[in-house]
Amino acid sequence: MEKEPIIQIKKVSKSYPIAGKEFLALKQIDLLFNKGEFAGIVGPSGSGKTTLLNIIGSLDKPTKGDAFVLNKDIKTLSHKEAASLRNFNIGFIFQVFNLLPVYTVFENVEFALLLQNNSAKQRKEAVMRALKWVGLTDHAGKRPDKLSGGESQRVAIARAMVKTPKIVLADEPTANLDAENAHEILKTMKKLNKELGTTFLFSTHDEKVMGYLDRIIHLRDGKIEKDEIKNK
Ligand SMILES: Nc1ncnc2c1ncn2[C@@H]1O[C@H](COP(=O)(O)OP(=O)(O)O)[C@@H](O)[C@H]1O
Ligand SMILES: [Mg+2]
Repeated sequence: MEKEPIIQIKKVSKSYPIAGKEFLALKQIDLLFNKGEFAGIVGPSGSGKTTLLNIIGSLDKPTKGDAFVLNKDIKTLSHKEAASLRNFNIGFIFQVFNLLPVYTVFENVEFALLLQNNSAKQRKEAVMRALKWVGLTDHAGKRPDKLSGGESQRVAIARAMVKTPKIVLADEPTANLDAENAHEILKTMKKLNKELGTTFLFSTHDEKVMGYLDRIIHLRDGKIEKDEIKNK
C-alpha cells in the first residue's frame, strides 16, 4: 500500500503551568504516522501519552510546534472546526467505557452519529453494521449494566467505529479488562484495522497490547526514547 501521511507531529512541546512554573509534559516530539498504521505510545504513567493523544485528537493544542492531523493544523483550528474533525474523522476509546447507563447499546452507539446529519434509517444501518463488527448484534437492546467489561469495551469500540473514522485513538483501552477480554478486543481492533484500513493509535503500558502492535513508540518524561517498527 502506498504510504500516506495521516498524522504529522513536528517539534511539539506541551507545557502546563504548575505553581507558577511551566511544567513540560512533551518535549520537542517529532512523529509521523501513515494511513493504516496500528501503533502504540508506550511509557510509564506520567510520561505524556495522554497529552500526546489529546493533541492528535484535537482535544488540546501544542504549546510549541505543529501537529497536522488529516492535513488540518491543530493549532489554528477553531473550536467548531476541531469538533467537526472529531465528529467525522476521529474515534475515541478510553480506559473507562463511558457508556450512558439509561440508554441501550444501540442508543449508546447511535450517539456518535447524532452530531452528523444522517437520517434515522442511515443511523440504524450504521449502528447495526458497527455492532456486527464487534460481535454484539444480539445485544443491541440491552442496557450497559447487563454487559460484561469486555462487552462494554466492545460497545465503546462500536461507538468509536460507527462513523467510520480515519483514525481511532485508544487511551489505555485494556486497563480495566481481564486478559481474555483484552485479547478479544485487540483482535477485534486489529481486524478492523486490516479490513477497513482505519489507523489505530494506542497509549498503553500493557504487555498484551504491545504484542499486537506493528510499531511501538517509547515515551519517557515527554521525550521519545525509541521508535520501534516490529516485524510483521
Ligand atoms: N491539565 C494538566 N495540568 C497540569 N499538569 C498536567 C495536566 N495534564 C497532564 N499533566 C502532567 O503532565 C504529565 C504527563 O501526563 P499524561 O499525558 O497524562 O501522562 P500519561 O498519560 O503518560 O500517564 C504528568 O506529569 C501530568 O501530571
Ligand atoms: Mg494517560
